[in-house]
Amino acid sequence: MENGHRVKAHVNLEAIASNFRYARSLTSGRRIMAVVKANAYGHGAVQVARRLEKEGVDMFGVATLGEAISLRDRGVTTPVLILTPPTPEEYRDIISRGFSLMVYDLDNVNEINMIAKCMGQVARVHLKVDTGMGRFGCTPEEAPSIARHIHQMEWVDLEGVATHFPRSDEGPVGFTLHQVKVFRQVISEMVELGVGFRLVHAANSGAILSRVSQSPCNMVRPGLMLYGYAPSRVLFDPNLRPAMEVVTRVIQVKRIKKGTPVGYGHTFHAPEDGYLAVLPIGYADGYPRALSNRGYVWIAGHVLKISGRVCMDSSMVFAPEDVPIKPGDEAVVMGVRDGFRYLADDMAEATGSIPYEVTCSFTSRVPRFFTERPHSPKQPLSETE
Ligand SMILES: Cc1ncc(COP(=O)(O)O)c(C=O)c1O
Repeated sequence: MENGHRVKAHVNLEAIASNFRYARSLTSGRRIMAVVKANAYGHGAVQVARRLEKEGVDMFGVATLGEAISLRDRGVTTPVLILTPPTPEEYRDIISRGFSLMVYDLDNVNEINMIAKCMGQVARVHLKVDTGMGRFGCTPEEAPSIARHIHQMEWVDLEGVATHFPRSDEGPVGFTLHQVKVFRQVISEMVELGVGFRLVHAANSGAILSRVSQSPCNMVRPGLMLYGYAPSRVLFDPNLRPAMEVVTRVIQVKRIKKGTPVGYGHTFHAPEDGYLAVLPIGYADGYPRALSNRGYVWIAGHVLKISGRVCMDSSMVFAPEDVPIKPGDEAVVMGVRDGFRYLADDMAEATGSIPYEVTCSFTSRVPRFFTERPHSPKQPLSETE
């Protein structure tokens, strides 16, 4: 471990590239918007974006103007769509920097048209249709007329039309199929009205992995699967390669007697004489406090359990007397070693969360180290990368 790093995350960019190619293979050559919002779900947006540019990604999806600017300022040239509707104060900056934005009603489109006209620069928009997410978007009924209105505007280019699937993690069933039908109808009504647009997109990881029909779309929007996870156990896919591991080192080991209480609230007592190892990782690093007395850790070839409550900056692990661990030993809190596999989906299951939240939660206190080397999950990444 590099000097000075208590905890670090290894991000395997080749695994992300491989997941990207897999997404492409499942979507019959459709364009791909890689969703890299929230710092690429915690993996490092700029490095992920640069790697995916080499794979020929068509567009990036981010949540905020700040995320879009950070990509551009660091040399990412691929078009960017801001997926979450921005505030009107941000329109000018978005238009001048050439980012695309989501719109959902005539008021915001009219305002964008006015600003774009004053700037003498066309704004690129995607109309978001709410076919059942119950979040942003116009209704399917009003979508064709809003699209026609935009089509007639001089300073707004209707670059795309989109919808979103809230239940695609359940597999190719019921509600998602209903949404596909509604969306298809909306698109054909727009076409009948003579409205032109280049991009039609809906599918997130769940829809891609469950092979939901892509018609009428010509682009997909994977996020989570690029980082190596399916959105639910139902859709587990062995072709996906989890891209991030989180490692630390034991900082202290001491002998403790049977019955010794451990940590805040004394929720753990040593079941026998043994050792207590202290790890310098806590919930301020993004290690879930809900893993108190539940999380598993690989330490120098042994699989051990978090003992007591996860603290803000540290966690404790009890080891029986016949398990020789020592200060400086490597501790894998999320990753794969030997027969040990404890990844974001396992951590999510243990804490009642989702892998999205687990990977997003590792904070800026955990530096990300990137590798390009292809690796099999059985081979740990080297310390120096
Ligand atoms: C609008 C939109 N599209 C696509 C995605 C990617 O979804 P997933 O990470 O499930 O592939 C998200 C993620 O939340 C999203 O908000």
